[in-house]
Amino acid sequence: MIRIGAMVSGGGTNLQAVLDAIDAGKIDGQVVTVVSSKEGAYAMERAAKHNIPSVVISKKDYPNGGFEKALIDHFKSMNVDLIILAGYMTILGEEFIKAFENKIMNIHPALIPSFCGDGFYGLRVHKAALEKGVKVTGATVHFVSPITDAGPIILQKAVEVLDDDTPEVLQKRVMEQAEWILLPEACEDIAKQLDEGEDKWALI
Ligand code: GAR
Repeated sequence: MIRIGAMVSGGGTNLQAVLDAIDAGKIDGQVVTVVSSKEGAYAMERAAKHNIPSVVISKKDYPNGGFEKALIDHFKSMNVDLIILAGYMTILGEEFIKAFENKIMNIHPALIPSFCGDGFYGLRVHKAALEKGVKVTGATVHFVSPITDAGPIILQKAVEVLDDDTPEVLQKRVMEQAEWILLPEACEDIAKQLDEGEDKWALI
């Protein structure tokens, strides 16, 4: 039974997809804590509806350092096996990433290595894809490494771009056709590995 920690910044539809997959019995595990980068993120309400405790740990509250240590202490105290970045918009530093090497997964709304890296998040990713005129985009689940969006790829799924797409329309299609499928699927895979006694993730 995998213990998942989630990090969020916004609406939390990807978190919801994971919670739904747990409720449906697809993932042998539970989300034990939700960490939000800011107050008022709707993702925290989704957590509350599932009786999952959530907490705000915001970089701006640590002007003299200590942000990463606060995150590490929190997730260690919750004894998590896996951390999912489910629409998390703060760049994480090496201290945190090293503390949970190959245990942090991110969902990115494009086919990495396209439209990724610093500055590519949320709607900006879809805006950039439309500006470039790509005919296919998608989503990627990958392990988090110290270079933004450059860690080992776990799953990818392509999504068609249509002629009259706006960034908002494309974002919705990528979520529906790729993100909300891939993130639960990756959690399911990793939960299975853990149940089978794997001490390192077989996907990397
Ligand atoms: C999702 O599209 C996610 O892939 C993206 O932000 C959105 C969050 O939506 N994440 C990034 O851009 C991270 N670089 P959600 O809060 O409804 O899951």
